[in-house]
Amino acid sequence: MRAHAHIGRWLGLGGLSAVLLFGCRPSPSGPDGAAEPIRVGEFASMTGKEAAFGQSSHKGTLLAIEEINAAGGVLGRPLHLITEDNQSKPGESATVVRKLISRERVVAVLGEVASGRSLEAAPICQQSRIPMISPSSTNPKVTEMGDCIFRVCFLDSFQGAALARFARQTLQSTRVAILSDAAAPYSVGLAAFFRERFLAGAGQVVAEQKYSSGDKDFKAQLTAIRAAQPEAIFVPGYYTEVGLIALQARQLGISVPLFGGDGWEAPELIQIAGTALEGNYYSTHFAPEVESTVAQNFVQKFTAKYGAAPDAIAALGYDSALLLADAIRRAGAAEGAPLRDAIASTRDFSGASGLTTIDPQRNARKSAVMITIRDGRFCYVQTITPEEALRNEPSPGP
Ligand code: PHE
Repeated sequence: MRAHAHIGRWLGLGGLSAVLLFGCRPSPSGPDGAAEPIRVGEFASMTGKEAAFGQSSHKGTLLAIEEINAAGGVLGRPLHLITEDNQSKPGESATVVRKLISRERVVAVLGEVASGRSLEAAPICQQSRIPMISPSSTNPKVTEMGDCIFRVCFLDSFQGAALARFARQTLQSTRVAILSDAAAPYSVGLAAFFRERFLAGAGQVVAEQKYSSGDKDFKAQLTAIRAAQPEAIFVPGYYTEVGLIALQARQLGISVPLFGGDGWEAPELIQIAGTALEGNYYSTHFAPEVESTVAQNFVQKFTAKYGAAPDAIAALGYDSALLLADAIRRAGAAEGAPLRDAIASTRDFSGASGLTTIDPQRNARKSAVMITIRDGRFCYVQTITPEEALRNEPSPGP
């Protein structure tokens, strides 16, 4: 009880002292000697086309921040999360992240889910040397933006390999068509990595078609794909377009499986696609069925707070905030080079999505899980480890 009262007081005073200290970096202790909150920025698609991503990531992040504060904060100071909405719009991430750094004076930035938006914000964080931790952007280029940019999820080079192997071994497909989003770096990258690994495994890409984020009619591309008679169609896109693509594919009489990557992950996928994706598959980072103790603990707390089980995006949002807090603790400082270096030297950090080790390229190496859609629900099928995905085993020829 006492602890909770204190946190409320800290957080309340945080806002006040930020105003009083206008123009200066907040000092560790406020005007009356109370511990000054550590200001953590978050940018997310809270509204707009990919609102499901931002909402879910934010829920996980917020849960972590609340848990840390309930346990007394970090270095004796509470974390104060400042969330900015980029409305899923191009250009907005740069604007809100600039604001988080220059006006809100955050010590680190958490975000984003979509690689395109992380790519927009990364140069700004890098230039100010404010560490940015992307929870779930999988395009390799994100962390290549500089030594202050990190992620806690796997890369699309791995995800593409895992999906290529899945297509050959589980779907038993050798002839695949690809329908990707030319306007999303995530989709372009994942399509390329998949293609490379699928061809290396003696698969054939029989058709390649493209669309642009926001498109609503995919009939021309799907008609061309149908003519090539693929055994399965790879759709590495985000849920809004994927839902419509699935619907229209079935309307055109295409009955072969569709499969995709983590971009499918949102309840809206099923709301849009109806039954069009029953029995189909996608890969992602985490499933509530995963049995580790940390994962189950997270699922329980998340479900108690929000009334629904978490998805992978929530798990990674949660882990990004916990990992930052752990680094602040190890750095013994809530900013600057010591904080950057502490994040960079993270080893075997245990979170909801498994163990995270930040490698020299500031990436993490994790397993993927395959999900199938059954009775309109997402169901866990199997885990694919990095070793399994990269094992190149063309299946025996005819
Ligand atoms: N990996 C996707 C990207 O980089 C974002 C994403 C992560 C979407 C997890 C859903 C689940 O753009």
